[in-house]
Amino acid sequence: MAFDKRIEAAMAAAIARGQGSEAPSRLASALEYAVTPGGARIRPTLLLSVATACGDDRPELSDAAAVALELMHCASLVHDDLPCFDDAEIRRGKPTIHRAYNEPLAILTGDSLIIMAFEVLSRAAGSDPKRAVHLITALAVRSGMPMGICAGQGWESESQINLSAYHRAKTGALFIAATQMGAAAAGYEPEPWEELGSRIGEAFQVADDLRDALCDAETLGKPAGQDEIHHRPNAVREYGVDGAMKRLKDILGGAIASIPSCPGEAMLAEMVRRYAEKIIPAQAASRV
Ligand code: IPE
Ligand code: IPE
Ligand code: MG
Ligand code: MG
Repeated sequence: MAFDKRIEAAMAAAIARGQGSEAPSRLASALEYAVTPGGARIRPTLLLSVATACGDDRPELSDAAAVALELMHCASLVHDDLPCFDDAEIRRGKPTIHRAYNEPLAILTGDSLIIMAFEVLSRAAGSDPKRAVHLITALAVRSGMPMGICAGQGWESESQINLSAYHRAKTGALFIAATQMGAAAAGYEPEPWEELGSRIGEAFQVADDLRDALCDAETLGKPAGQDEIHHRPNAVREYGVDGAMKRLKDILGGAIASIPSCPGEAMLAEMVRRYAEKIIPAQAASRV
């Protein structure tokens, strides 16, 4: 089955379980609102690509890993949009959860999705507990403190920000989770896959900074120019548009070189190349 079909089917099943029996109806509806329609689903797609490159001999475990990772990502966006963080009005082209529902329901939606992510992994653990432990550990490490998303968001409350630690934790962490969880779901050791995830995450963040600086809200489906408004450190401010583009290309070249040896090595390299073409905003591509 195609990756997007696998991801959507497994996401729908997880959300339906969360909406079951005596669930309060507005929170049940907010759970679905937060994950559908999805964004690019880049993290679960990367995870399934790595799992496939490693043989994908337990597809049910790969699907659970992909869903757990995307649920965590969606939760991080719901919390990130809250008034106490970025106070965003739109996400994926529609009102953010605290606008469409209310603030308590947005907090609870994020919380529920985080908990659901680990529930999905523990339910799938029976087929291979050893691999499942790797999956749970990778997701926890890359979501919490000291180097997961929580750490990344925490940097925004410091007076001095270490830009690379901030980006590595805020964005890179879930890309590392994607490559490591994809490998672990297929029975490979997760450690050698860190560099690939880290480089793709770094490239994604530089591309996101370029889009934030160069595109409008309609193109993005979320507010534009946010890094400047919130005085956030970003790659465009640090290196300029041309410098950021050069950096993006160097990082992606390094990503391809870092792919660990596995049966689908060439396929993964091709995937990274295609991904590079997709993330470079047109306004920046025409300048180099
Ligand atoms: C947005 O991530 C948050 C960042 C880490 C910059 P995505 O751009 O992957 O968001 P969706 O899932 O496609 O909406
Ligand atoms: C969001 O970062 C990253 C998370 C860890 C949630 P940003 O605030 O930079 O991303 P957008 O622009 O809201 O998607
Ligand atoms: Mg933010
Ligand atoms: Mg934000």
